[in-house]
Amino acid sequence: DWTMDAYREQAIAAIRAQVGDKRVICALSGGVDSSVTAILLHEAIGEQLTCVFVDHGLLRQGEAEQVVTMFRDHYNLNLIHADEKDLFLGRLEGVSDPETKRKIIGGLFIDVFQKYANDIEGAEFLAQGTLYPDVIESVSFSGGPSVTIKSHHNVGGLPEKMGLKLVEPLRELFKDEVRVLGAELGLPPSFIGRHPFPGPGLAIRCPGEITREKLEILRRADAVFIDQIRRHGLYDDIWQAFVAILPVRTVGVMGDGRTYDFACALRAVTSVDGMTADYYPFTHEFLGETATRIINEVQGINRVTYDITSKPPGTIEWE
Ligand code: XMP
Repeated sequence: DWTMDAYREQAIAAIRAQVGDKRVICALSGGVDSSVTAILLHEAIGEQLTCVFVDHGLLRQGEAEQVVTMFRDHYNLNLIHADEKDLFLGRLEGVSDPETKRKIIGGLFIDVFQKYANDIEGAEFLAQGTLYPDVIESVSFSGGPSVTIKSHHNVGGLPEKMGLKLVEPLRELFKDEVRVLGAELGLPPSFIGRHPFPGPGLAIRCPGEITREKLEILRRADAVFIDQIRRHGLYDDIWQAFVAILPVRTVGVMGDGRTYDFACALRAVTSVDGMTADYYPFTHEFLGETATRIINEVQGINRVTYDITSKPPGTIEWE
């Protein structure tokens, strides 16, 4: 893409001019925006960039390994893998209120990021994957009434607190343009086309109290569901798809025994921007096959339901 190639060159020059020979830190989640930000910065300033990947123990199956492999081994950038699973899961123990979960995770995320960032000597800049719609939104909402339904977790306020200056190379781009830029930078389609994943991760897909046991069951069920979607060639038609593990055990039969295991809900929606959404019209055959696979392959689940709520009145996530 000619225009994006020009944008890339111009963005790299702008980053070099802004940063000079100083160090930059970047919170890398593995999502499209932070991934493209990191790679662009790496291309511009190489060794001056350090990325911090916070593993809060609420990631999907294989996700941490994928991020580390891609960025450390393939792109060869300075990456700190902050394994803080015990900290996050410990503090979430016994917590079931959705907003409390978000506050705990958001607060710890900032603490952890700051702790690692403090060890990076001479860091003067913080890179963020802010997009054009984020810029517009924060302008139009400033001074207006507080209409937050869910407190979305990000690193807002962090740069001031840490005395860092912001580098935001994606500020002029829309999401689809970020994807084009990502492709230009060699990011594989499996990263570029990824469904959005919320900052609080699996915590909000595990209504009620979070336990390691439930998280492990959830990860395995979610992996089967996504595998089904990919096998049927539906991944790119769907905005987001995931499993939520329900805080209830139900009775089932398996072989000649009785089971008493968790129920789960499949969620898949189409959407343009996440603000409104429709449930995805899977065929009954697909749903039946998926339910059978999950129950056969995931120990701990004996009942599968499909969530057919649209947004509004539902939300995409269960919490
Ligand atoms: P809802 O559930 O509000 O989700 O319909 C809309 C979009 O936002 C994502 N989401 C979040 N993202 N932190 C995030 O970073 C959050 O706390 C959060 N809650 C929801 C959700 O995955 C969907 O893409």
